[in-house]
Amino acid sequence: MSGVSRVSAPDATTDRVAIVTGGSRGIGAAVCRRLAADGLRVHLVYRDAEGAAKQVVEEILADGGHAVAHRADVADEPAVEELVRTVADAEGAIHVLVNNAGVIDDHLLMLTSTERWEQVLRVNLTGPFLLCRAVLPAMLDQGWGRIINVSSNSVRIPGAGQTAYAASKGGVEALTRGLAMEVGRKGIRVNCVAPGRVRTDMTGPVADKLGGDDAAGPRWGLPEDVSGLVAFLASDEADYIQGQTITADGGRLVMRPRGSK
Ligand SMILES: NC(=O)c1ccc[n+]([C@@H]2O[C@H](COP(=O)([O-])OP(=O)(O)OC[C@H]3O[C@@H](n4cnc5c(N)ncnc54)[C@H](OP(=O)(O)O)[C@@H]3O)[C@@H](O)[C@H]2O)c1
Repeated sequence: MSGVSRVSAPDATTDRVAIVTGGSRGIGAAVCRRLAADGLRVHLVYRDAEGAAKQVVEEILADGGHAVAHRADVADEPAVEELVRTVADAEGAIHVLVNNAGVIDDHLLMLTSTERWEQVLRVNLTGPFLLCRAVLPAMLDQGWGRIINVSSNSVRIPGAGQTAYAASKGGVEALTRGLAMEVGRKGIRVNCVAPGRVRTDMTGPVADKLGGDDAAGPRWGLPEDVSGLVAFLASDEADYIQGQTITADGGRLVMRPRGSK
């Protein structure tokens, strides 16, 4: 018998509660569907797309899962605090946070206004900070939690015009490591996933411009290529993974030196 012991949730038989930001569309919607299929009670956060958010909730309910949609801007501190309070009051616990909401607003640095720079950082970096800070008391009380932040391959291979976006995601990876260090002994795991090119509303115009899969590189990813990794990091099985950024890009980072775009 080995002496290995995992830090499990105090009561791993009750349904776990997850907050997923940006759950109305793209990668976040796939994460909501997957976590719900895994038995988690999903609280989906959207900003504008109410119809899309409701559709994701209806699909989950039709499949026998649990999901509720909340409108909140992750860049708005009072809104984030109210959101987390609402979920905690309704559920009595918060086990999983997926910081997935994000925006892209590409411009060459010389043409980037301070306002645009700050808005990208506000949503992509300050948003996760606000959510992490708001859920930590519940996770610390439980002695168990999973925080999964969504970064991007753009940190390592930014395209032209992506300085603000790549800087915000680089910040998310640093936030992940810093918080992982702070809470590592409290049963909370904080990790990052860094997708490559995934076909969503965010990347539709780029995909159209590039005209389909690049013969020298991997195929475009699907939201479901990322959601399984998020679900794993949200599970008990990820107990020994902490402060990491895990890339899901079909091999784009390793294939790029061969000359892909
Ligand atoms: N697609 C890719 O190739 C790719 C690659 C690497 C990383 N990522 C990252 O993956 C995450 C999801 O990307 P995606 O492609 O699925 O994006 P998407 O299809 O454009 O969806 C973005 C989601 O974020 C929500 N959102 C945006 N700003 C928000 C705010 N201020 N407050 C609350 N919610 C907000 C949107 O809500 P509404 O629907 O209400 O507008 C939507 O649900 C992002 O963090 C992105 O940076 C994407």
